[in-house]
Parts: sequence; structure tokens; C-alpha cells
Amino acid sequence: MLELELRSEADTLALARTLAAVLEGGDLVGLEGGLGAGKTTFARGAVHGLGVPEDTAVTSPTFALLHQYEGRVPVAHADFYRLGGEAEVEELGVDELLEDGAVLFVEWGRKFQGVAARTVLWVELEIVSDAARRARLRPQGARGDAIIGALGKRLPK
Ligand SMILES: Nc1ncnc2c1ncn2[C@@H]1O[C@H](COP(=O)(O)OP(=O)(O)O)[C@@H](O)[C@H]1O
Ligand SMILES: [Mg+2]
Repeated sequence: MLELELRSEADTLALARTLAAVLEGGDLVGLEGGLGAGKTTFARGAVHGLGVPEDTAVTSPTFALLHQYEGRVPVAHADFYRLGGEAEVEELGVDELLEDGAVLFVEWGRKFQGVAARTVLWVELEIVSDAARRARLRPQGARGDAIIGALGKRLPK
């Protein structure tokens, strides 16, 4: 587990970009934390870090549920807050996207077994103050361990 203090939105974007550099197609990253914790902000930094052009807006997929982008790999960003049940996870094609080599960022995915089981890294964000957040990065399985190992080497000391 990696725990970091993010003192500004810029810190969150920078961490997300650094993480993006070590992600590979097929990785599913779970973004957890309450409203306003910074899940969508983190996703924005990571999507751009994966090579999606900076002028491509990355907004909350609240209504569309899932937004797709083309970076150095396919990228998808989902928000499952309003999702009814497990069947909808299947309908959205989470498995297919991963099999096709996409990197997926999913907000509020923990309650869905189909998402949780495929998650390799949990990014848990917590509000500390107006501008500060605490991030806990928890690996899941061997791939998660590899990501945390590679990320640890890239983070500023
Ligand atoms: N350190 C920080 N990291 C991320 N967001 C921050 C930070 N400080 C302030 N913010 C603000 O908090 C809000 C986070 O919103 P958002 O990323 O949509 O959260 P969520 O998707 O978790 O609901 C944004 O308005 C952002 O500007
Ligand atoms: Mg959000």
C-alpha cells in the first residue's frame, strides 16, 4: 500500500500521470472516495497521461456511465454510482474492453463483484481540507503489486 498526501489538485493530476506511465492495456483501476474526493480529477490526469490529447475534455461520466478515449492504448472512464446492478456492468462491456486491451478507470466500482474482481489497483481518495486529499493506493493481486513497485520507483522522494 502506498499512502500519499496530495496538497493541491495539481498534486493529484501529477500522481495520476505518473501512474498512467506504468499502466498497460487490460488494467482496471478502481477509484473510490466520497463526492468531491477527486476521483474524476484523478481520472482526467491519468487519461491525459495515457496519451489522450490535452485538449480532449475528460468530464464525469455521470449520465453516459462510460466515456471512451484513444491514447497509446484505448482508455475508458466509468462512473457506476447510478448503476442498477451487475447485469448493467456486463451490458457496458467491461470484460470486452479489458480483453481488447483498454485501460479502465471506474468510479464507485467496489460494490459490483464483476468490477471488483477485475480491479488491479484501488485508488482511495479522502478529503483532508478544501485543497488537500489523502490517497491510498492498494494493489490487488500480482499485477497490482507490479504496478505499485513500478510506481514507487517513479514517485519523487
Ligand atoms: N487535491 C485535490 N485533488 C483533487 N481534487 C481537488 C483537490 N483539491 C481540490 N479539489 C477539487 O475537488 C473537486 C473534486 O471533484 P471530482 O474530481 O469531480 O470528485 P469526485 O469524482 O470524487 O466526485 C474538484 O472541484 C477539484 O477542483
Ligand atoms: Mg466523479
